[in-house]
Formats: sequence, C-alpha cells, structure tokens
Amino acid sequence: MTDQPFGTIFEPFRIHSVEPLRLTTSAERTAALAAAGYNLFELRAEEVLIDLLTDSGTGAMSAEQWAGIQRGNEAYAGAPSFYRFREAVTGLFPFRHVLPTHQGRGAEKILFTVVGGPGRIVPNNTHFDTTRANVEFTGAQALDLPIPEGLQPGRRHPFKGNMDVAALEQLLEEQAAAVPLVMLTVTNNSGGGQPVSLANIRAVRQVCDRFGKPLFLDACRFAENAWFIKTREPGYADTPVAGIVREMAALADGMTMSAKKDPLANIGGWLALNDDSLAEQCRNLEILTEGFPTYGGLAGRDLEAIAQGLHECTDEGYLRYRVRSTAYLGEALESAGIPVVVPFGGHAVFIDARAMLGHLDPLQYPGQALACALFEEGGVRACEIGTVMFGLHPDGTETPAAMDLVRLAIPRRTYTQSHIDYVIEVLTRVAGRAADLPGMRIVSQPRHLRHFTARFAPLP
Ligand code: F0G
Repeated sequence: MTDQPFGTIFEPFRIHSVEPLRLTTSAERTAALAAAGYNLFELRAEEVLIDLLTDSGTGAMSAEQWAGIQRGNEAYAGAPSFYRFREAVTGLFPFRHVLPTHQGRGAEKILFTVVGGPGRIVPNNTHFDTTRANVEFTGAQALDLPIPEGLQPGRRHPFKGNMDVAALEQLLEEQAAAVPLVMLTVTNNSGGGQPVSLANIRAVRQVCDRFGKPLFLDACRFAENAWFIKTREPGYADTPVAGIVREMAALADGMTMSAKKDPLANIGGWLALNDDSLAEQCRNLEILTEGFPTYGGLAGRDLEAIAQGLHECTDEGYLRYRVRSTAYLGEALESAGIPVVVPFGGHAVFIDARAMLGHLDPLQYPGQALACALFEEGGVRACEIGTVMFGLHPDGTETPAAMDLVRLAIPRRTYTQSHIDYVIEVLTRVAGRAADLPGMRIVSQPRHLRHFTARFAPLP
C-alpha cells in the first residue's frame, strides 16, 4: 500500500501525447443533437467535448504499449505476438484454450452460436446488451438473476453485482436441461459497474457443480472487480490483485472478454475455455468468422498492446487511482443532490434518471432525455442504460427496463481531474432544470440493439 499521507488523487502517469479538444457553442450542440436524431451514438466525436459514452477502447495506451505496437509481428499463423498475448492471458486466466477475437462480442457470437438455440436459457447476474443480443439472436433466452439489492440504485451493498444464488438454484432445479452454461459478468456493467465477490463466485460454482453446468465469466472489468474484492471482501487485503484474478479464474470453466476495457487496448477480445470439444467447435467457427486462431481478427500489433495492457491493469497504483477518481465524480454528484447508484462502480458513475426526472414515465425514456440534456448543456456525452437499451423484446413488445440509468463511463487514463470538475458543473446545471426536461418518443428503430441507431424526438 501507499505510505503517502496526501489527499489529492494522484494520476499515476504524465501526458505523453495530446489530442486537442475544441469548445463548442450551445447553438452548435443543439443543432448537432437534432441532426443526430437525439441519438448520441449518431454524433460526430468532434462535436463532443467530454466523451463519457463508453470506457470501451477509449483509453490512452502507455509508452510501453506503443512500443509493443512496433514489435507486432504480422505473420498469418504462429506469430510471436500471439504467443506473448496468450502468455499474458493465461498468466491471469489459466484456461487451456485461448481464442483471440476482434472484440468481446466476437467471442460471445462464437460461444452462443455453439451453446445457444431455441429453448435454451442462459442465466447471468446481468447480461450486457451485446451478450443479451447474442444469446437472443440464437433463439435462446437471456435471463438476469441479480441480487435484489442490485436493482435498488440508492441501496448500499459492497457486492451489488452478485448473482442471486437461490434464484439460480431454483432455475436449475426446474429447467436444468435448458441451461447450457451459467455466466457471471464482472463487474456487472448494466447493474451499475458493481463488483461480484469471490464468495458469490464460489457459491455459484457450487450450484453449477451440483447440476453439472459450466461457469463462464464475462470478465471485461476483471481488474476493477479484483480491486473491489481486495478492498472490500474480508481476507483479501493482503492478496495481490493478480492472485485474486487467478482465484476468480480458477472457479470458472471459461470466459468471454473484451480487451477494450480493463486490458487497456483500443481493440480486441478473446474466448478462453477448458473443454476440449467445445473449444474445437468454437475454433472452427472462429476461423469462419474472425480469422485464423493465432490472430482472430486482430493485427499482431493489437495482440502486443493487449499483452502489455494486461500487465499494467493489475498494477495496484493504477487501480487505486482508477477507482478513486471514479468515486470522486460520484461523490461530487451525490453531494449536489443528484440521485446516483451507490456505491460507485469502477468504470463509471450511473445516474438514476428515473428518480432525477420523476415527472417522466419510463416509456418517455428519462435516461435518453437526461443524456440529451447533458450534451446540450455542456457537450458531455453519456449513455442511456435503461428502457431504450433493454425495453424492446424479441417478440416486439416493450416494457420499462428494471432501472433507467445514465452512465458516465470514464475512459482509462484519458481525462484529468479538471475535465471531471467540468462534468460536475454541467451536471449540476442540468439538475437545476431537471423537472422541466421533456421526455422523448421514438421516431424509428431497428429490431435488435435499438439504442445504437433509433431516432428520437422530444415530446412537446
Ligand atoms: N460484456 C460487457 C460486460 C461489456 O461491457 C461489453 C461492452 C461487452 C461484453 C462487449 O464487448 O464491446 O468488445 O464487443 N461494453 C461496452 C460498453 C460497449 O460501453 O459498456 P465489445
């Protein structure tokens, strides 16, 4: 731990290369928003001042990662970059088979093509949008089983990402044959970036063992999850983060992964697993859809960036800064009276838009309305995680999502504390006129993953 008795959040890096930001006017932002059909995914990034849309692939790479980019070997088969990548992955997640993919959803697509299908049910603490869509696309059902505390934004619990073990047990008692595998998302992104405890992973493992089901981790934010275990779960304060990660991995049979999150890369992912025959089927699909198994849709240079990123993201000075700086934003919003999901997650602060815009019905999309207002006010781009993202079902019906959240995702090593102070100022201003913000209606939408391309209009 640190012996430095200072309160200032210490950003454990200095800036090596910069990307200019151009201030926009309020009139420019209003016009850009209307042209984008009130869908923030349709904006041009230059129109955004502080981009908190996602922490995915948006972080700054280190000098060592850029050095790795130079070292990248681009052989089609058997590149040394693949072996360095695999060694870094198995150093933390010692699964027998590691299949690189172009990003996380590539791994999901392969896995669920093999194990999904009509009549199947895939339980998870909470599926992320692409995971849910990949499960549903095969005709299977994606079932969320978070603990009840996980659905109460204002309720404090150290491991709000935990799975409801009794609910999993009941599902398996009733319909074991329909369940090909059990998944745990660490940290639970859609549930507020909340961690899952080792005790919960162990309990889920025991239930899986009783019914002979494999357990897979959706491990995008495994390092942040491990940091929360170290700092919150009794007995782990002195275990190195990498050791905690290995303990998480040892309880699972496989994982899907996006290297765009904790591994600090701009692109990439992987599927890793122990089962030889499942791996064989997945590898055949990988060749069909991603590429030869030693590159999987990535350049050798990307594999190098991931390998180096994996070493950096388990550094405890980095993780302390990461989680502390996210909490800094959350604490400021909470003191300004803005309803936020507590405790604060690792990669993002989530605002309870349903509570903040209490005058709107969930089907008037309070999260979308709030996200648009943040952009219009100060060029801050956030992401709705609520009824727009999860409300439309495969049969075409629509119901309110469990929560209407707006996520302020923090790209890794990218923004300074003064950028975050600016975000706090913008949010405080919007909070002052929250009761006057209009709801939204959908003008057009696709059948799957509508939040990416739907067009909206403000209600009168
Ligand atoms: N699983 C989780 C928990 C995720 O958060 C994501 C992506 C994925 C899987 C898919 O990975 O993007 O590499 O295909 N989340 C991003 C986000 C997009 O903004 O939270 P991918």
